[in-house]
Amino acid sequence: MINDKISVQGISRLLSTATPIEVLETVNSTNTYLKRKVSDFLPDGTTVIALRQTAGRGRFTRKFHSPEECGIYMSILLRPQIPTSEVTLITAAAAVAVCEAIEACSDKSTQIKWVNDVLIDSKKVCGILTEGVINPQSGKFDGVIVGIGINVYEPLGGFPDDIKDIASAIFSKKEAGLRNKLAAQIINRLIKYSENLGKKDFFEDYKNRSIVIGKPITVISGDCKLSATALSIDDKCRLLVEFSDKTQKHLDSGEISIKL
Ligand code: BTN
Repeated sequence: MINDKISVQGISRLLSTATPIEVLETVNSTNTYLKRKVSDFLPDGTTVIALRQTAGRGRFTRKFHSPEECGIYMSILLRPQIPTSEVTLITAAAAVAVCEAIEACSDKSTQIKWVNDVLIDSKKVCGILTEGVINPQSGKFDGVIVGIGINVYEPLGGFPDDIKDIASAIFSKKEAGLRNKLAAQIINRLIKYSENLGKKDFFEDYKNRSIVIGKPITVISGDCKLSATALSIDDKCRLLVEFSDKTQKHLDSGEISIKL
């Protein structure tokens, strides 16, 4: 049987910069784990990968299904010098890094569902959870944790009922070395983009890959659901939408989610 094992050596030898990598057997959440270490003088790009998460988290406190053998569950620590209001740009950079890495390792085309989901054939193969740790004195970021969860292979027994209609995996067959390759490609690209965040090299690509522009969507904020059309994405990564009464609004990713 083919074994696609994730390992520190397997990833490190494919990295463009010397970046500390830690691989854990099991953890509650790699984001939670790395967040606790933000003040530990860890360098930019420090990455933690778990083979399995017991409490993988998505946006809006949703669960992220993280069984072993079939995914990549990783968190990357960045120390960007940006205003906290621009944190969504990091999610956008990560989404493009994931899309490019998947396309470099497979024959699949990827799209992005604002703000943090990567899709193949309209189904989610990756979710991104970006969490900032703000220094109370300076009001700036001590660090930003970019959590990336990828369904590389379908879990044994399939996806759970609550996500089986919206989730998919990238590959149908296991290949040795694939998860290491994919992880390294993502880390290399995300570090490159984050070093020049102000240049926004990834941003045109982010918009071009958007699956929502021009589409009818449902805007969800707490219990409130409103029909709208997605018009465009602005340079702060906010989604401009038009509601049925023709009023327009820029949606901020922190408060609102959408349904296609
Ligand atoms: C989402 O779909 O809303 C985001 C999912 C993010 C999942 C990843 S898996 C690695 C990291 N650790 C977590 O607990 N969450 C992120």
